[in-house]
Amino acid sequence: MLKIALPKGRIAKETLNAFSQIFGGSFEFEDRKLKLVKDDFEFLMVRNQDIDTYVMGGAADLGVVGLDVLEEHGSDVLRLLDLDLGHCKVCVGTIGGEQIDYNKTSELRVATSLDNITQKYFSAKAVPVKIIHLYGSVELAPLVNLADCIVDIVETGDTMRQNGLAPCEEIMKSSAYLIANKLSFVSKKAEILEIYSKLEALIKARN
Ligand code: PRP
Repeated sequence: MLKIALPKGRIAKETLNAFSQIFGGSFEFEDRKLKLVKDDFEFLMVRNQDIDTYVMGGAADLGVVGLDVLEEHGSDVLRLLDLDLGHCKVCVGTIGGEQIDYNKTSELRVATSLDNITQKYFSAKAVPVKIIHLYGSVELAPLVNLADCIVDIVETGDTMRQNGLAPCEEIMKSSAYLIANKLSFVSKKAEILEIYSKLEALIKARN
């Protein structure tokens, strides 16, 4: 039995669709249930930020999670395959998309929930930053002068736009990855590679 952790929302739906296509039958969670057992698979519905915790802890053999989460957490897992879905970018955003004048500020105040990606990015540019950690609604921070800029996920760009912000620098592109627990990859190698090849073929057929 392979245990697979999926993030709630669109990525879970697209991943389960892929499994339906590969193995036939319907792969659907019942209303509000967090576990789905189907054939030789057990799917776990967890929060995006928690996927790697389940996989690293061995509670799931496989997981599907955004590259941004893996980078932010520095997760100790195997990155098996880019699933070519859930595309987004991690960007620096400012009011009106104005370029940041790095000579003008002694310490840039950055609101974000992606503290590690943010710190790494600005450290590489030798820019001193004060990270203001927020759990969500990050776009609000520059509007009320809590921060000079934000670092956040941009998918459609609507959230920034609706709040008068725009991306001014792109830090990284992200998409959903199939990840594996390192021990599972040894003990269940054949089963995992079977899924891997089928998903890979599906992605190729789509493009
Ligand atoms: C993310 C992100 C932005 C928004 C960007 O939040 O933090 O707020 O999506 O998407 P857009 O470019 O399509 O508008 P999410 O909805 O995942 O909720 P969160 O605040 O819990 O992270």
